[in-house]
Amino acid sequence: MAGSKKIGVLFVCLGNICRSPLAEGVFRHLVIAEGLEKHFLIDSVGTSSWHVGEPPDERGREAGLIAGFDIGGQRARKITNKDFEKFHYILAMDQTNIRNLRQRVPEEHQNKIDFLLNHSASGIQEVPDPYYGGVDGFQNCLALITEGAEGLLETLMVKYFPDHRP
Ligand code: 4NP
Repeated sequence: MAGSKKIGVLFVCLGNICRSPLAEGVFRHLVIAEGLEKHFLIDSVGTSSWHVGEPPDERGREAGLIAGFDIGGQRARKITNKDFEKFHYILAMDQTNIRNLRQRVPEEHQNKIDFLLNHSASGIQEVPDPYYGGVDGFQNCLALITEGAEGLLETLMVKYFPDHRP
């Protein structure tokens, strides 16, 4: 992206307090490790307004801290129509998120929507909702999300920064 616009990457789940805030945190952590943060616009949203303004779930924040990044400053928000224009990659956690997004995204932006885990080689497509469960659920989520985020960054680096060395 020679001197042009930032690459917009938006992670989406239902409440924006469990899975997508972790995806935002992991992906940002990976991008910073590559020294590429100035080239990216990274955010996360929910398809619902249920938890707008709330910080990420404590269990997810804890999982992030153990993995070396802090998502405690993030706050939940609901997706807006502007997000479909602003972001180039809109990565959902599960099939319900995809259905909700497809219902409201304008035709010209439909191709931005994908499962995050389509970027991992795990063969698993959905990040399960960890809201009604214990800490284990968040560890499992983080492992899946990390695989997806690593695969996504690899794809984007090949496409936009083929000669990059960290
Ligand atoms: P998230 O998880 O979509 O990963 O943030 C959920 C958060 C809240 C609820 C469901 C899932 N809820 O039912 O309030």
